[in-house]
Amino acid sequence: MTEIIDGNAVASEIRDGLTGSIEALADAGARPGLATVLMGDDPASETYVNMKQRDCEEVGIESVHVDVDGDASPETLYDSIADLNDNPDVHGYIVQAPVPDHVDYRDVIRRVDPEKDVDGFHPENVGRLVAGDARFRPCTPHGIQKLLEATEVDTEGADVTIVGRSAIVGKPLANLLVQKADDGNATVTICHSRTEDLAAKTRQADVVVAAVGVPELIDGSMIDDGAVVIDVGVNRVDADTEKGYELVGDVEFETAAENADAITPVPGGVGPMTRAMLLYNTVKAASLQEG
Ligand code: GUN
Repeated sequence: MTEIIDGNAVASEIRDGLTGSIEALADAGARPGLATVLMGDDPASETYVNMKQRDCEEVGIESVHVDVDGDASPETLYDSIADLNDNPDVHGYIVQAPVPDHVDYRDVIRRVDPEKDVDGFHPENVGRLVAGDARFRPCTPHGIQKLLEATEVDTEGADVTIVGRSAIVGKPLANLLVQKADDGNATVTICHSRTEDLAAKTRQADVVVAAVGVPELIDGSMIDDGAVVIDVGVNRVDADTEKGYELVGDVEFETAAENADAITPVPGGVGPMTRAMLLYNTVKAASLQEG
């Protein structure tokens, strides 16, 4: 039987595990605070940000939301960032990506106080992660590590093929999984749009991570018998539903599940883990700043 990896259940355990630290902070008179910044009105981003706000409320993290007009200048966004850097009640914050085309996300990230960068995207935090001394593990890669751990997948010596080289998922995940650490020691292959014979690279893998944003790119013929499949994709495709679309992953679930030992669904796999790890990083930021 193929195991359907329950991201909601593992995320719930992660949230429960934060209670002790949140109580310890409360005893010291502090309450962790997370801010979300959204520039523009991308509907998917609005949904994500709303979910992050709700998650905070559930675990006792104070949340603040900052909306920036999509037509505003980059400087307007930078001003909001400077305010958050100066606000002692905000221990961590994220600027939801993507930002409008006239803003360079890298210029945004450089302005975030690295100690409040709970996404782990600031160059200082990327450098620390690559050096094996991460302050904040980026939420999706960290969530994937926790899902593999909960599924009792040992990455030691395993072949992991990551499809996608983004700065948010592919590259940091590869860096984490190759590290000489309890949850690393894997042999990692990173694939992308110029990769030749993608199927050969995925078929050789014990673990396939799909994070490219191409609906159902990876099908069952590309998955070795007994492999573990982690699907990071959340793609809106036109469908005859109430909303006019449905969400599909980067993996063709039905065919991949026939070969895989374990597979994450979309939704309900990686998504809830990303959100749980953001709470984890926020509590860590608060503990570091209040400690
Ligand atoms: N957009 C998609 N994923 C993410 C994420 O993890 N953090 C931020 N800030 N934006 C995103």
